[in-house]
Amino acid sequence: MIGVFDSGLGGLSVLAALVDALPQADFSYFADTAHVPYGNKSEEQIQGRVLAIGQHLADAGCGLLVVACNTATATAVQALRAAHPGIPVVGVEPGIKPAAQDTRTGRIAVLTTEATARSPRLQHLIRDHAGHVEVFVEPCPGWATHVEMLQLDDPALATDARARIEPLLEKGVDRIVLGCTHYSFLAPLLTEIVGARAQLVDVADAVARQTQRLAGRLAHGSGTLHLHASAHLERLHAALPRLHLGRLAARVV
Ligand code: DGL
Repeated sequence: MIGVFDSGLGGLSVLAALVDALPQADFSYFADTAHVPYGNKSEEQIQGRVLAIGQHLADAGCGLLVVACNTATATAVQALRAAHPGIPVVGVEPGIKPAAQDTRTGRIAVLTTEATARSPRLQHLIRDHAGHVEVFVEPCPGWATHVEMLQLDDPALATDARARIEPLLEKGVDRIVLGCTHYSFLAPLLTEIVGARAQLVDVADAVARQTQRLAGRLAHGSGTLHLHASAHLERLHAALPRLHLGRLAARVV
């Protein structure tokens, strides 16, 4: 079984890509809905949650872990790997590298949670892969909570998104990295704002390919999905059709 987790619904965007890449694999998805959002938590709090969930999934027999959360990866993936040296761990990091490679204007932006924005890991990613371009890091407080509440069409969210993105476009940004897995579900709204002026960059497919490379025998299972949540499991089930993830619902056992 492959364990996948996030603070809540965001990691489902990664899970959808994982299921497409590994249709026969068995997945266990854990949403930490009792503690969402992670973006406004301290490093210690996030690390504590990541280690507890990692242990839970390892105890449940997961042979590979996917941290389907940029904030958890930025803050705690090293600690998680250290705690489980025998289990491969795939993290999710903002697609700074592809954005920096593809930009024509030499200016890219990354939308993240507050915790990711201040993490040294993000600074290292920018230093290592985007030294030759200008990078604007834009923390987006509250966005993950809107997704969590399934308020994707909330006018207040649209107003805030426009207020954050228009200035970036005016600066000449032509690649906008979705640096939080919740934001994948805001792609229709963001695409409407951005139009043809910039492209959104999402790494879910790249994470799925990396997981595929590491899956080995875990690729061959019964194609099942177990859903777990630290609170309100019923909301997780109800969210699948609302997020157009009926193909995941069909696998739930
Ligand atoms: N989905 C998460 C991420 O990718 C975290 C959102 C949150 O809980 O603040 O960063």
